[in-house]
Parts: sequence; C-alpha cells; structure tokens
Amino acid sequence: MQSFLRLISTFFIFLSCVENTFAGITSTVIRSQWPSSDIPLDNEVFAVPKGHNAPQQVHITQGDYDGKAVIISWVTSDEPGSSEVQYGTTKGKYDNSAEGKSTSYTFYKYKSGYIHHCLLDGLEYDTKYYYKVGSGGSSREFWFQTPPTIDPDASHKFGIIGDLGQTYNSLSTLQHYMVSGAQAVLFLGDLSYADRYKYNDVGLRWDTWGRFIEQSAAFQPWIWSAGNHEIEYMPYMEEVDPFKSYLHRYPTPYLASKSTSPLWYAVRRASAHIIVLSSYSSFVKYTLQWMWLREEFKRVDREKTPWLIVLMHVPLYHSNNVHFMEGESMRAAFEKWFVRNRVDIVFAGHVHAYERSYRISNIQYNVSSGDRDPVPDKSAPLYITVGDGGNQEGLAGRFRDPQPDYSAFREASYGHSTLEIKNRTHAFYHWNRNNDGKKVATDSFILHNQYWVSNSRRRKLKKYSSKSIT
Ligand SMILES: *[C@@H]1O[C@H](CO)[C@@H](O)[C@H](O)[C@H]1NC(C)=O
Ligand SMILES: *[C@@H]1O[C@H](CO)[C@@H](O)[C@H](O)[C@H]1NC(C)=O
Ligand SMILES: [Fe+2]
Repeated sequence: MQSFLRLISTFFIFLSCVENTFAGITSTVIRSQWPSSDIPLDNEVFAVPKGHNAPQQVHITQGDYDGKAVIISWVTSDEPGSSEVQYGTTKGKYDNSAEGKSTSYTFYKYKSGYIHHCLLDGLEYDTKYYYKVGSGGSSREFWFQTPPTIDPDASHKFGIIGDLGQTYNSLSTLQHYMVSGAQAVLFLGDLSYADRYKYNDVGLRWDTWGRFIEQSAAFQPWIWSAGNHEIEYMPYMEEVDPFKSYLHRYPTPYLASKSTSPLWYAVRRASAHIIVLSSYSSFVKYTLQWMWLREEFKRVDREKTPWLIVLMHVPLYHSNNVHFMEGESMRAAFEKWFVRNRVDIVFAGHVHAYERSYRISNIQYNVSSGDRDPVPDKSAPLYITVGDGGNQEGLAGRFRDPQPDYSAFREASYGHSTLEIKNRTHAFYHWNRNNDGKKVATDSFILHNQYWVSNSRRRKLKKYSSKSIT
C-alpha cells in the first residue's frame, strides 16, 4: 500500500513538472491526524529553563539587508537582567559582545517578561558563531551559521512554514522541519494562535510558543511575516493596538530595506532577494506599503540575487473553500508587479492546506471588457500555499470542485516546504507531508530561475541587438 502511494505520488510529480499542460491534481490521500488541540502547558516542549532569570524563548532573525547581522531575542522573567550577548567563533570563547535593549508590555492584566533584542552586526559570511545570553549559572549558549556572501551562484536551503500554532501537529511539523537540513525559515504568518485564548492566557500562550520554537529558532533565523492571528484586536479587554504582542516579541530588520514598518520589509540572503508583505496593512495605491514595494522592486538586482521570492499571509491564488478569494484585493494591487518583475515564487499561508499553482496571471482583468479568467503566463510566479503548519483550527479539507485550471496540486495534510537553491539557474523544491516520515518528496520538482533560465534567450537577444546598434 505504502509503495503504491509512493508510485502514485511519483506520477503526480511527473505530471506537475509539465507546466500548464494537464489539469491539476487533487491528492486523494487522506491522512490521520492528531486532534487539533494545543499541547498542555505542563508538557516538556514548553519547559521553562532552570535557574534564576534564565533566558527563555531565544530566537534569531536576520538583522540587516545582506546577511551580515542577526537580531537575537530572548525573555527573562524575574528581573530585567542584562541585554548583552557575548559571542565568538569558538565554542566557550566569547571575544565579542553586543549590548541590546529590553522592552515589555501588558495585555489585559498579563505583564510580559523582559523581552531583550540585541543586534550582532559586522559578522563574517559563512561562519559559525557561538553566543551566550544571560548571566552566571543560568546563562545559556547557542550557535548559528551566517549565510554565504551575496552571490548569484550561492546555494542556500530555505524552509517554509506557515500557520504553525502549538499542537502536536505543530510539533510534528517542527520536528520534520528540523531534520530537513534547511538553514533559515521563511515564516508565512500566524505564529502562536494565542489569540484563540482570552484574558491573561493570550500572553501566556505567546510565552509557551516562544519556548516551543526555540529548539530551531535559537539556531537559525526565522524570517517573519504577520498573519491575522497577530492582529489581536480584542476590545472586550480593551486591547486594540494591532500586532501588539507580535511587534514586541518578533523584531524585523525593516529599516535596512528603507521600510517604515516592521510589518513589510526585504532581506537578501545568499542568492535570494526575499520580500515580506503585510496582508493586514494598507497596500492600495499610494499607501506606504505600496510605495515602499515599488521602490524595493527597483533595488532587486537579479545579476546578484537571481531568486526573487515574495512572502505574504493571504494567498492570491488557491482553490480551497476556506478563505476563497480573500487575496483578490492584494492581487489587484500587486500582481502586475510580480509578473513584470518575474518573481519566482509567492509563498502564502492562511489556508490550512497545501496548494501549488501553475504559472498563471490575471493582469488582463478588465471590469468592462469581460476578461476575467487567469491565463497561463510564463512570466508569472508560482503561487504556493503552505498554511499547513498544524495549528489548533485544524485542516481546511474542502477544495472547490472542479479543480480550477490554475491549480496544479492540492492536498489537505500537515507539513512544510523546503526550497534548496543550488545556483543561479536551479533550485529543488519539496513539500514534506508530516505523516510520511523524514524524507519523502510529496510534491517536488526542479525550479528554473525566472530571470536566468526563462529569460536567457530574450536577454541574449537584447545584448545582441544593443551590440549591433553600436
Ligand atoms: C478595458 O476594456 C475596454 C473594452 O471593453 C477597453 O476599452 C479598455 O481600454 C480596457 N482597459 C484596460 C485598462 O485595459
Ligand atoms: C546548477 O545546478 C544544477 C543542479 O544541481 C546543475 O545541474 C547545473 O549544472 C548547475 N549549473 C551550473 C552552471 O553549475
Ligand atoms: Fe490566517
């Protein structure tokens, strides 16, 4: 049975490589799942580290535009303590130190711990750094590896996780991700699902989530984007500042990309230029996010970073009954730019299932002419929804029937994806379904770069014609 399924999925993979030729696949795989309830507070995955004021919820993110800095964050609960990070390239030998800042916030009657953020910058590329936070007997040590120099052929393996939450399914996703060998997470929004709780439990569940992801996030950067569960508009307890918990806890290097908000920004890493958008901030023409994105696309240099990846929470294309067409407003605002700039992949979460589109666009849409259907478009990105991290809301199991032409593969199972960039022309993409064990490729294919492969003929022609003019 197992091998039969594998045979079928190999066949799917074959089909899915043949772009825009066949109708898409709705996987018939029905997977068992743990109940979608949160892991109890006293479980070991939420354990508070021992010792007075011991640092907890340690996590890192990229700290600059080009990957030579990280922001290290952690929480201490007894007293402010120190915001210093000691670090160096030899374990136990910390020649350098950096001083951060701490902050805290209240949420209803919950009072957060002391949340520390410390920037380590001027790091060397492709180097393993060891670091220490906290003091005395309760200090803790971790490490991370900086990415390679920005270079068109730099290889790097990204993980893609969305809508994670803190259930046993979330734990399974995290554990599967951690054996993937990926070096940084592109996170697609909806982190802790703490907003499913009330009163003081909201803050408490942000703390448990921080301790839960530490096993990965203390050792490699998670590149954050915000989802609807980060908004936390809760007027019944007079909490109405959007993204309050998220913004206090999960900083982003937005200033480095000239953004005016931590909710949208860009980073470059190895051979990838990653643009993070906010589905829940204004984005129509002339808003700050719209103007920033217009400028950021001008800064993209495919000769240096061939891979152009966009992250957002709400998918522009998917065919699930849940959240269907919620991305239309952002599609109307940005799709033209994605096509014109030949974005390689747009990753989104939000829908609790996995889905991948063909290269299609609907930029010819015209309210007066009647042109309304997406059409195959070689310049368009792939749209991939990876909202299947495993949170307490469960899976979105009902897809629209029949499967629309733009949908290439869809399945409601928990999992994560990886994008392994090899060089300027090739990347290996892989969706991992949790139930299949470590390394079964469920939806996987070789991705050709939109600039260096698809465009190469045109570029050669252009070079030729400009030469012949001079
Ligand atoms: C929309 O379609 C109409 C014809 O119905 C055409 O006159 C108009 O130029 C089109 N507008 C755009 C922006 O393409
Ligand atoms: C890029 O990587 C692919 C896949 O590993 C390989 O087949 C190809 O030869 C590489 N291209 C170059 C120019 O090294
Ligand atoms: Fe969501």
